[in-house]
Amino acid sequence: MGKAAAAAARTIGVLLFLLGSLFSDVKVEAQMPIPAKIDGFVYKGAPVWGKSVVVEAFFDPLCPDSRDSWPPLKQALLHYPDRISVVVHPFPLPYHNSAFIAARALHIANKLNSSSTYPLLELLFKFQEGYYDEQTYNLTRASVVGGIAKLAVAAVGKHSLSSFLSGFDDPATDSATRISFKYGCSRAVTGTPYFFVNGVPLSQSGSALGYKKWRSILDPLLEKRN
Ligand SMILES: *[C@@H]1O[C@H](CO)[C@@H](O)[C@H](O)[C@H]1NC(C)=O
Ligand SMILES: *[C@@H]1O[C@H](CO)[C@@H](O)[C@H](O)[C@H]1NC(C)=O
Repeated sequence: MGKAAAAAARTIGVLLFLLGSLFSDVKVEAQMPIPAKIDGFVYKGAPVWGKSVVVEAFFDPLCPDSRDSWPPLKQALLHYPDRISVVVHPFPLPYHNSAFIAARALHIANKLNSSSTYPLLELLFKFQEGYYDEQTYNLTRASVVGGIAKLAVAAVGKHSLSSFLSGFDDPATDSATRISFKYGCSRAVTGTPYFFVNGVPLSQSGSALGYKKWRSILDPLLEKRN
């Protein structure tokens, strides 16, 4: 072996050693499942990747602050119907016992009749008090599912009860709901409601923002685009 070849061999040896130590330090983390479609339900309004301001809301359908924050956000949206896009991500809080069922109901409704997702969200908000932990303490899971399915029929369509109930046996709706939760975790969502405007988290997240607050956040952003 000539001098040059020996030097090259040493260099390669050192590189392999460095690469080896690099990879042995890499933590093996499980890849979060990648959904075929990005999470979230788009409210009617401007397209998300157009010229609009994008508001993302992480809501737990059984959370009173999520419920209270929806009407003012909707009002702000109606003020600028073509310039704001709203995307709701279900984020079932683990300490609300029926929240995963309620969030799954939204995915089932979206699958059966996509125009019924928001009407069902509003129904769940309206009747959420019947699904709080104390109210469901002595109820079976089947009876909670049955109650939510009956509620859903009003939004999804009058002959939808049996298909809605079979949605709870469909592994795809379970997986979509898990992904919603994991997606929120991946964006460091720690409670509901939690808002992002154009991808940036709002520090006031966690309580219901009023209409005036929304206007004060959105007005300057929309002026910049004129
Ligand atoms: C659940 O049922 C038990 C037994 O009937 C009753 O004593 C208790 O008050 C109920 N709990 C709630 C939260 O309704
Ligand atoms: C789908 O849902 C919308 C909103 O609730 C409702 O108006 C419509 O009738 C439903 N479609 C069917 C086929 O039931």
